[in-house]
Amino acid sequence: MIITIDGPSGTGKSTVAKGIAKQLSYMFFDTGAMYRSFAWLVMKEGLDPKDQNAVEAALLKFQFEMQRDQKQSRIYFVNGEEVTEKIRTQQISLAASQVAVYPKIREAMVKIQRKFGHSVDAVFEGRDMGTVVFPEADLKIFLTAKPEVRAERRYQELKRKFPDVSIHFDEILKEIQERDDTDQTRAVSPLKKAEDAILIDTSDLTAAQVIDKIIRLYKPRQKFPKMKWFYKIVYWLARWFFQCFFRLRIYGIEHFSPGAAVIVANHASFMDPAVLSISCLEEVSFLAKQSLFKVPLLGFIIRKLNSYPVAQGASDAAVFRLMIELLGQGKKLLLFPEGRRSSDGQLLPLQRGLSFIVQKAGCRVIPAYIQGTFAAWPRTRKFPKLFGKITVVFGSSIEYKELEDKTSSRDRITEKTAYSIRRLKEWLERGAIGIPP
Ligand code: DC
Repeated sequence: MIITIDGPSGTGKSTVAKGIAKQLSYMFFDTGAMYRSFAWLVMKEGLDPKDQNAVEAALLKFQFEMQRDQKQSRIYFVNGEEVTEKIRTQQISLAASQVAVYPKIREAMVKIQRKFGHSVDAVFEGRDMGTVVFPEADLKIFLTAKPEVRAERRYQELKRKFPDVSIHFDEILKEIQERDDTDQTRAVSPLKKAEDAILIDTSDLTAAQVIDKIIRLYKPRQKFPKMKWFYKIVYWLARWFFQCFFRLRIYGIEHFSPGAAVIVANHASFMDPAVLSISCLEEVSFLAKQSLFKVPLLGFIIRKLNSYPVAQGASDAAVFRLMIELLGQGKKLLLFPEGRRSSDGQLLPLQRGLSFIVQKAGCRVIPAYIQGTFAAWPRTRKFPKLFGKITVVFGSSIEYKELEDKTSSRDRITEKTAYSIRRLKEWLERGAIGIPP
């Protein structure tokens, strides 16, 4: 899925686009940085940005590369030289706007941007993302803000980045107006709102408020894979059953998004896999003992419901391989990493295997807390008690990427998941107010 965020400078595009990408675990592309990087090369070569022929010829020498630093922030390279900070000066801002008017330059940049956007989930930030580069984007946002507000933001940003340089607010305001003029009046891909883009004025909003607004717009547009007919029938029958007999309530579904993930929950009853599966918005997969697949009808049904057999005595390595393979196919995998059903309904410590799987598959964890299944069907009872109350709460996902610190991430994933499940339990016990954490 592609989300585009366009608008003039100082509207908070970068902060907002980064925030959204982080929340959704999407890639983030600051396309202004590409124009800036090219402008930096033009200036380094001593060319006049107004000299179209010379600027276009410089394209042949432009090798652009993006990487991530240790904190996972983007860093930019031109012909092998790091330019991340160098491209943020006022001089480069103006030059970028000037070189961006030339059709050949835009053509080259658009080509690179489309290549980056091919088959990824990404947030693209720029001026012509929704109009020219990704006209088919799933969600288009156009940010605006009053020029004075934008100039003030730029002023604060520059003061922070270049504390030794003398900076004047009036100059910045003038420069912003000049750039707006160049960006809006150029012949090719001028800065303008796509017809189907949603306009948000950020003058009186914080970045967090804008991000929140966009996430709310994004949620209903998510595309979940369609369920297969057999799965769908069982899913809706089971949902109806649990809603009628156990007053099933589901919270935190807004945390659920398409793509590979391990859904991790506490485990206190036989009912948990079924209850958790029907609380999800798409098909999920899980592992089951191989012996169950040999039971005539049951074997057929659980296979159709995306169960994968695990042979008795199978090594951890073999089980992990299977899980990583399923996640690699973009599936959602249910896991109960307490290792066994709780005998008293209380949470047990999580086993370390979870970290290994998440790290190898590079996927996210969706923590979930299940309440009420222990009372409905504890280990000690042969049959369940009807007319109980069951609740499932999903928490915000734990991104593998943000925990990619090589030395400690294995333990942190498990710890963070266990902490998250405890928090969901507390949230529910405190009265389920607002969105689950
Ligand atoms: O977003 P920014 O301020 O970093 O962008 C710098 C300049 O690059 C901007 O003045 C216009 C140009 N630009 C563009 O023409 N098209 C884009 N998609 C992104 C930036």
